[in-house]
Amino acid sequence: MTNFPLPRIDKDPELKKLLLPYCRFKFGDIWDDEKGKHRIACVDIEDKNSLIKIMGGNKAALSVQDPPYNFVAFKETDTLEFINWCKKWVDNIYTILSDNSSFYVWLGADQKNGFSPLPEFMQLMKSTDFKSKSFITLRNQRGYGTQKNWMSIRQELLYYVKGKPEFNINAEYTDIPKILKGYYKTINGKQTENIERSKSENIRAGNIWVDIQQVFYRMEENVNGCFAQKPLKAIERIVEAGSNKNDIVVDFFSHSGTTLIASEKFGRKCYTSDIDPVYCEITLRRIENFRNTGRTGWQNSNPFFDEILNDKKLKSYLSEKYELKV
Ligand SMILES: C[S@@+](CC[C@H](N)C(=O)[O-])C[C@H]1O[C@@H](n2cnc3c(N)ncnc32)[C@H](O)[C@@H]1O
Repeated sequence: MTNFPLPRIDKDPELKKLLLPYCRFKFGDIWDDEKGKHRIACVDIEDKNSLIKIMGGNKAALSVQDPPYNFVAFKETDTLEFINWCKKWVDNIYTILSDNSSFYVWLGADQKNGFSPLPEFMQLMKSTDFKSKSFITLRNQRGYGTQKNWMSIRQELLYYVKGKPEFNINAEYTDIPKILKGYYKTINGKQTENIERSKSENIRAGNIWVDIQQVFYRMEENVNGCFAQKPLKAIERIVEAGSNKNDIVVDFFSHSGTTLIASEKFGRKCYTSDIDPVYCEITLRRIENFRNTGRTGWQNSNPFFDEILNDKKLKSYLSEKYELKV
């Protein structure tokens, strides 16, 4: 495979302009899966009527949302404005979820700014009808780590419920080997510890998921051009735990389409959307590519590889600005 990554699209408006003609979405469009399973829409999550339209009279069993909390990457705004915005879409999500459903939301915490917006978001959630269930942390380490601080980037995952949804315990087992001994119990007069007693080779997930790697360019699932992709394995764990076959899973900040791929793998229906037609197109290409090749991303290539090869303007723009060789 040619080594040809795409730079971050969000940081380069000119590149976005050159890619737009290859996008099958305009704002307001809804793509319906020919297999009758998924939907991809280009809408604003703030617009309740658009979300209701996507749902087509159905309710979702699981919501996985990953808002743009990185203000530098997205747009400068103060925390209050961000929280007011969150309030609107959290209310919208509540409306389209079934009576017994799960709601997961990813949030960053700015360690140089009182960990905002995480505490403010948690306060906001206390004022809603969702009930808090868990606070999950993903391991965040690159290379050998750092000597100047404990890693400064955080990826927090908050878990709430509406009503009393099922929790599928199978999803709890991880790839983490049994390394920590503990919890001694006497059975038939013999003292045993938990590693001896449990049947699985691995431990359960708990609320610190050290077995999940942040997405980086060497991974098959990597979608070059995207800047905020979440690990597929984390979303697969959520999808397995929080929904059943043929249930509807919603993600209205699709970006690279990770929730869609996890839903496809586990036989769920995914109704997903993004405000930006370029990310809607990438989401669509990701599912098409997965269905055609079994690959979850592009690793050394990118979703617009063929267009870049054939479009002289696009090709020379990328070669000149980024010195990328096709
Ligand atoms: C942090 S990314 C989501 C990453 C995703 N979980 C993944 O694995 O690829 C946030 C996405 O939200 C989209 N977005 C921002 N504001 C939005 C809005 N008001 N409505 C819908 N999508 C929005 C952005 O275009 C961006 O693609």
